[in-house]
Amino acid sequence: MDWGQENRLARIVRRPHNRALMLAVDHGYFLGPTERLEDPRSTIAPLLKYCDSLMLTRGVLRTSVPSSTGTPMVLRVSGGTSIIGEDLSREDITVSIRDAVRLNATALAMSIFVGSKYEYQTIVNLGRLVNEAEECGMPVLAVTAVGKEMARDARYLSLACRMAAEQGAHIVKTYYCEDFEQVVNSCPVPVIIAGGKKIPERDALDLTYKAVRAGAVGVDMGRNIWQSDNPVPMIRAVRSIVHGNADAGSAWEMYNRLVSESTGPRSESG
Ligand code: 5RP
Repeated sequence: MDWGQENRLARIVRRPHNRALMLAVDHGYFLGPTERLEDPRSTIAPLLKYCDSLMLTRGVLRTSVPSSTGTPMVLRVSGGTSIIGEDLSREDITVSIRDAVRLNATALAMSIFVGSKYEYQTIVNLGRLVNEAEECGMPVLAVTAVGKEMARDARYLSLACRMAAEQGAHIVKTYYCEDFEQVVNSCPVPVIIAGGKKIPERDALDLTYKAVRAGAVGVDMGRNIWQSDNPVPMIRAVRSIVHGNADAGSAWEMYNRLVSESTGPRSESG
């Protein structure tokens, strides 16, 4: 890895403890105006200072994030199908590397769909994206998307994460599962977890804690933060696990304290 690539990666996976709190707000690329992300600007604004990096599309970056921000941007560069379309796995690269550089992206992100109808296309696309990204010193985050018919177990997720790393991804995002150590230990690059569908806050904090304890460097979490009634306390509680080594119980206490200190739901601190 060259200096530029290492430097970019270090802005996402923070030294000295190699931990990452990435806030995912890219859902609209196939879900449209997702609940509580209808107006990305107002969802992102109160959370920006609490995340290490923001994962998003170029459309949301251009329209909804102040260009004065110092937060690193992880730019989703894949897409092509919608939640109501033919097959979600049919993704291609939709953003040129030149535009990603122009937008000052710190890393590029794309999905692979191992075991799906379009597996071949998405894996080859990952290899091609890494080829181009290497020329610009840009790290690539591979997202292991899981089709409805796939089991989210350690066997499948280990396969998908390892394949992503073998193609040259510099960081891999996947889902938490039982025996998650197996997934992390067989993947030679840092692993972060998605939060998935909204679950109770206490459960999302447990998920975060268990993933980090099993070796994940952190999270790329979206709905379990900004679909919470108290997004700022929630991201701060997640942060206390990722960066403060808090356990899930202490993070839950912190969440409740911050909620009770806030003036009302969905205020700056709630
Ligand atoms: C969709 C994504 C999302 O960014 C990812 O799922 C993380 O968000 P959430 O925590 O809401 O699951 O990559 O393909």
